Amino acid sequence: METTTSTRKDRLRIAGAWLVEESTDRLLMESPAKINLHLEVLGKRADGFHELETLLATIDLCDRIELRRTKQSTEVAIDDATVDATDNLVTRAVRLVREESGRDDGVAIAVKKKIPIGAGLGGGSSNAAATLAGLDRLWNLNWPIERLGELGAKLGSDVPFFFHAPAAIARGRGERLEPCRLKNGFAFDLVLVCPQVGLSTASVFRNTKLSDEKHSIAGIVAALEAGDVPAIGGLLFNRLEEASARLCPEVERIRQAAATWNCLGHRMTGSGSSYFAVCASAIEARALADRVAGQGLGRVHALQGGL
Ligand code: C5P
Repeated sequence: METTTSTRKDRLRIAGAWLVEESTDRLLMESPAKINLHLEVLGKRADGFHELETLLATIDLCDRIELRRTKQSTEVAIDDATVDATDNLVTRAVRLVREESGRDDGVAIAVKKKIPIGAGLGGGSSNAAATLAGLDRLWNLNWPIERLGELGAKLGSDVPFFFHAPAAIARGRGERLEPCRLKNGFAFDLVLVCPQVGLSTASVFRNTKLSDEKHSIAGIVAALEAGDVPAIGGLLFNRLEEASARLCPEVERIRQAAATWNCLGHRMTGSGSSYFAVCASAIEARALADRVAGQGLGRVHALQGGL
């Protein structure tokens, strides 16, 4: 079980990522994961993607990403052998900034992964957003956030959200963002369980049955903006959860175990495979994480969300 205490609140934030260190030649950032507090699929579009309405919030589980000026070329090192070293969201983000800016400055990027892959936590998307914003800063491009968000949308559905952290409603494929107005200093406690196996987003969408009765997002958005954590816990929703639980026995096992958890509510995030419980306090989250850590369900974290 891992507990992360946050001293991040007073740090500068770019594209959702926390700026840890900065010099003219180097940026060190912490790039956070996201969870979906609500996710409804409104329909299937002609381009094969699904029309979504989702409420996203960043959580305090972060990858470390370092961008360094070099003489020439692009070097990307990600300390996870399952990520394609030559073609991933970070290499694609660099390519896109080069194409758009015409710059050929050298850059070396190193990512230390903590956010699991294929887990519904948007780790790759967060890294891509941090890369776009980091290059904008390192190369003094001064592009407006709207332009960075549009470039992000070309890379993946979850990338634009990170420019509107810590919480926003995303519509369309994820590119139409409406930021939430959180109360000053607000954060909620949660326990996150990450099974060893990931899920393919495309296959989860393919296996999701759409419903004529759409779940409204309004209640949980109001609860989040009011800082009403019990209401947030009670209103969690994810249309993709049934399909993911059918495709992935590990998700089904967590769902069954979660029925006995002492928490305000629990749900899968994104297209899975990670699952979270919203708790009434940090003490409750830690107690629940301690209990769940021994059950062989996956890696367990006690964290904060909405920051
Ligand atoms: O954009 P992203 O790379 O996250 O999408 C992965 C896959 O998930 C897409 O190729 C598509 O099959 C599916 N998807 C979808 N509708 C969305 C987002 C993703 O059908 N809104």
